[in-house]
Amino acid sequence: MVAAMSMLELTGLGKDYGDRTAVKALDLVVKKGEILGLLGPNGAGKTTTISMACGVITPTRGRVVVSGTDLAKQPRVAKAKLGYVPQDLALYEELSATQNLTYFAALYGIHGALAAERVTWALGVVGLGDRATDVVKTYSGGMQRRLNIAAGLVHKPELLVLDEPTVGVDPQSRNHIFETVRTLRASGMTVIYTSHYMEEVEALCDRVAIMDGGAITALGTIPELVAKYAGKGIEIEIAGDVAAAETAAAAHATVTREHSVLRVEPTAGLAPVIAAIEASGVTIARIESRQASLETAFLALTGKALRDVA
Ligand SMILES: Nc1ncnc2c1ncn2[C@@H]1O[C@H](COP(=O)(O)OP(=O)(O)OP(=O)(O)O)[C@@H](O)[C@H]1O
Ligand SMILES: [Mg+2]
Repeated sequence: MVAAMSMLELTGLGKDYGDRTAVKALDLVVKKGEILGLLGPNGAGKTTTISMACGVITPTRGRVVVSGTDLAKQPRVAKAKLGYVPQDLALYEELSATQNLTYFAALYGIHGALAAERVTWALGVVGLGDRATDVVKTYSGGMQRRLNIAAGLVHKPELLVLDEPTVGVDPQSRNHIFETVRTLRASGMTVIYTSHYMEEVEALCDRVAIMDGGAITALGTIPELVAKYAGKGIEIEIAGDVAAAETAAAAHATVTREHSVLRVEPTAGLAPVIAAIEASGVTIARIESRQASLETAFLALTGKALRDVA
């Protein structure tokens, strides 16, 4: 059965804030056991989408089903199945790690010996076992971020949802967070991972959903997205009249222009493109074949470089 294979189903899910539509009407199925990356420029609607999926904000339209449970109909049952790790830290600075996690466990109705066991487990997963009794305000930023993840884990959810978990962390904590995500997936947990960092998504995710303007514009494995959207274009840098070179090249290729660089996809080989540009009297400064990567796919889909918007 299809339902048994899906961890999260979003159907026609959308959110309006007054006149502004933050998320249109989104359909997404997250498979059991996968790490799904959610990539998109600022304001794409990533946080709004996962906040609706986790029951933190109420959708304007659409439906959320968490492992077979309708979130609107059985919110407590659905929420117990997922762990939401918000981008902003949600921790009590004056309390120790153990006290924080014991509190979060209690929110899910976990008390006593089971709570103690879960707290120890969650701290171990994020590599903070030796700092359990330290007060959180004495933690580094990266350690606080790891504890924030532990807070989302303490009730052992089937689905872990991370909103930009590595923003502002040191490389060591970042590696730790990567290892945590991999370990959890290996243990059977499903993960949604929102990030601005292409390398993180490439390193971690089984599939990637690219969001822009409140909609998912592409979804697939990285090789699928690269094959479909990145193309294998060629960059030609022009020294001189770029507009003239563009017109000349356009007779033999699909051309897009960015400052002094033409990105061309030749219709019948590169030679006629070069000949036409040179015949127009313009000098070619550089020719380079564009590497097909997730980054070029993202650029082709959104028109934005992720680094520019991070
Ligand atoms: N509480 C709110 N009230 C009004 N508008 C909102 C609210 N929350 C989000 N929006 C708007 O919804 C859109 C999507 O925002 P969202 O935070 O989901 O984007 P995002 O993809 O997470 O961006 P970022 O990469 O910056 O975190 C934006 O235009 C934002 O201004
Ligand atoms: Mg966000």
